Amino acid sequence: MGEPAMMKTHQCGDLRPSHIGQTVTLCGWVNRIRDHGGVVFIDLRDRSGIVQCVFDPQECPAEAVATAREVGNEWVLRIVGLVAHRPPGTENPKLATGEIEVRARAIEVLNDAKPLPFPLADEISVDEWVRLKYRYLDLRRNRMRDILELRHRFTKAVRDFMHENGFWEVETPILWKHTPEGAREFLVPSRLHAGKFYVLPQSPQIAKQLLMVAGVERYFQIAKCLRDEDPRADRQPEFTQIDIEMSFVTDDDIYEVVERLLQYAFEKAAGIKIAIPFPRLTYPEAMERFGSDKPDLRFGMELVDISDIVAHCQFKAFAETVAKGGQVKALSVRGMATASRKDLAELTEFAKRFGAKGLATFALGDGEIRSQVAKFLTDAELGAILERCGAQQGDLVLVVADEPEIVAETLGNLRLKLGRQLGLVNPSDNEFRFLWVTDFPLLKWDADENRYSPSHHPFTSPYPDDIPLLKEGVRALHDPNYPIPKGHREHPLSKVRAYAYDLVLNGYEIGGGSIRIHRREIQELVFRAIELPPEEARRKFDFLLEAFEYGAPPHGGIALGLDRILALIAGCEATSPETGMPYLNIREVIAFPKTSTMQDPLTGAPTPVDEKVLAEQHIALRPEALETLAQEQG
Ligand code: AMO
Ligand code: AMP
Repeated sequence: MGEPAMMKTHQCGDLRPSHIGQTVTLCGWVNRIRDHGGVVFIDLRDRSGIVQCVFDPQECPAEAVATAREVGNEWVLRIVGLVAHRPPGTENPKLATGEIEVRARAIEVLNDAKPLPFPLADEISVDEWVRLKYRYLDLRRNRMRDILELRHRFTKAVRDFMHENGFWEVETPILWKHTPEGAREFLVPSRLHAGKFYVLPQSPQIAKQLLMVAGVERYFQIAKCLRDEDPRADRQPEFTQIDIEMSFVTDDDIYEVVERLLQYAFEKAAGIKIAIPFPRLTYPEAMERFGSDKPDLRFGMELVDISDIVAHCQFKAFAETVAKGGQVKALSVRGMATASRKDLAELTEFAKRFGAKGLATFALGDGEIRSQVAKFLTDAELGAILERCGAQQGDLVLVVADEPEIVAETLGNLRLKLGRQLGLVNPSDNEFRFLWVTDFPLLKWDADENRYSPSHHPFTSPYPDDIPLLKEGVRALHDPNYPIPKGHREHPLSKVRAYAYDLVLNGYEIGGGSIRIHRREIQELVFRAIELPPEEARRKFDFLLEAFEYGAPPHGGIALGLDRILALIAGCEATSPETGMPYLNIREVIAFPKTSTMQDPLTGAPTPVDEKVLAEQHIALRPEALETLAQEQG
C-alpha cells in the first residue's frame, strides 16, 4: 500500500508562522483575486478562514500561473505551495494568517462558478428572499458562518454538560398524536389507515413525561418542535428546544441545573461569563413593576401605581377608573419633556393600539408643567404623583388609567419603545440579564370560549398549597348559586397559582417549564377546570392518565428555546422602524428557516403534489384549495 492520497493537508485559516517551510495542499473557494502584472494573488477561503496564495512566475510553473490568472470569484481550487513569511511591510494584521503566505507551486480547478446573485461581503445588505433562495451562498458569508459555528459549539456544550450531569439523551417520536397543548399542529395523513392522521409534535412534552414514568429520571433532547402558527420574528413553525425533564425534583432543582447549564454553554460556546443564580420575580410582581411577564432588566424605568393619589381627583377618567376597580399608573421618562405635540400624539396613538382609551402626559419643562390634565388636579395631587415617580425637571410622565391588563400592556410596551428611543439599551453591549418569572396563574380566562384555559399547558401542576382552591373553583364552576362569576379576578380558579416558571433573557422568553401533575385525580381536576368534557379527555389523553396509574414519579422540567438564545448571543435584536419596538430575528440563526409567509424560497415549499400522491393518502382537495391553485398556475 502506498501513502494515503488526501485531497488537502491543512485548513487555510489555520496557517501560522509555525508552518513556514512546510509544503501544504489547500482546498477552497476564491475569495478575491488580484493580478499585479505578472504575479497573481489568490485569497483562498475555506470554513476556517482565508490565506493569501501567491503565483510568482519566478518560482511557479508557467502553466500554473496561467491557470491562476483565469479563475474567477468563488471558483473551487486545490493549491499546493510552500508556506513562507510575507515580505516585510506586506503583513496584514487584520487577517489571522496575515503574517504568512503560500508560495504556490501547483493549482487544480475543482469547479468553476457562475457570477453570484449577490456579493458575499457582510456589510452589503441583500433582500431576505434572495438570501434565502440562495441560502447555501448566504451561509458562505462570514457572519453566517460564524453563527453556524456558534450554534454547533453551543449544542456541543449543552450535550457535554448534560452527559456530565447524568442526563440521558432520548429521541422521541416525530409522528405523534393529536394532543392539544396550545398551538395548532401540523397533520400527517396516514396512507395505511385511511382517514386517520398523525401530527408532528409541538414539543416532546408528553413523551418526556412518559419517560419519567419509565424511570429514566434525567432526560434531555435537542428537539425539533413543529407548530403551525403564524411566524413572527422570534417564532418559526419549526424550531429547536433544549428539552429537559427530571424526576424527584422541586423547582429549585430545575433552576440550579439550568443556571449551571447556561453558564457552562455561554462560556464554552461564546466566551461569555454569566453570573448565577439568576434573579427571580413572581408574575404579579413582574406585571406590577414592568407591565410584562418577560421584563427586559437591562434598564429601569419602572411603572408606578398612583391609583390611591388620584382616586378622588377631579379628572374623571382617573377617578372613575379607580372607582370601578381599575388602576392608574405612571411611567417617568428621563429627559423627554421637550417632546413635541406631534411626538405626544404619536405616543397616544401607540398607547391606543393596546386598548388604552388615552394617554395623559405631564412634561416637566422650565419651571412649568405642560399637560392636558394637570388643570384637573390639585397641587397636592400633582406633587404626590411627581414625587412617587421620582420625576425631575426635563422628564415626561405618562399616565394610563384602565383595567390592570390594559394598563400593564400599554405602559409595558411604552417602556420598551422609549427605552430604545432613549438609548437605554444597546444590543452591542453584550449584556445578558436573565430572570426567572414564577407563580403564573394556572388558568386564564378565555372570554371567547367562555371558559378557563391553561396559561401554559394542561399538565402543569398547581402549587400544592393551592389544590384546595382548585377544588373549590371546580365546585363553583358547576354551582349556579356561586356568588363570584367565572372569569372574575376573585373566582377561586383565577387565583390558583401554577407550579411553573419562565426563563427570560433581555426581555425575551427563552424557556418555560413546570412541575407536572403526576396523579390521575389532579389531572382530571384540571381537565374539569378547563371544562374539557370527560369523554374528550379520555379520547385524547387516556394513555397519559393510564400511565399515571402505574407508579408515576413526581417530575418536572423545562424547555429552552435554542434559536432565541443563539439569536441573543449573536446580536440579532433590532428595532422596528415602523413601531420603534425591539424584536428578535431568529431566522438569522437557523440554517434553512421559513420566511414570515411560511415559505422556503430555496425549495419553493410548500408545493402542490401530484393527484396520484394525494389519492394514495386518501386526500381530496376542497374546492377553495383547487381554486387557489388554479389561480396561482393560471
Ligand atoms: P413552550 O411552548 O413555552 O413550552 O416552549 C418553550 C420555549 O421554546 C421557545 N419557543 C419558540 N421558539 C421559536 N419559535 C417558536 N415558534 C417557539 N415557540 C416556543 C421559547 C419558549 O420559551 N413543553 C413545554 C416545555 C415544558 O413545560 O417543559 C413547551 O414547549 O423560548
Ligand atoms: P378627554 O377628556 O377624553 O379629551 O382626554 C383628555 C386627555 O386625557 C387626553 O390627552 C387623553 O389622551 C387623556 N386620557 C383620556 N382617557 C384616559 C385614560 N383612561 N388614561 C389616561 N389618559 C386618558
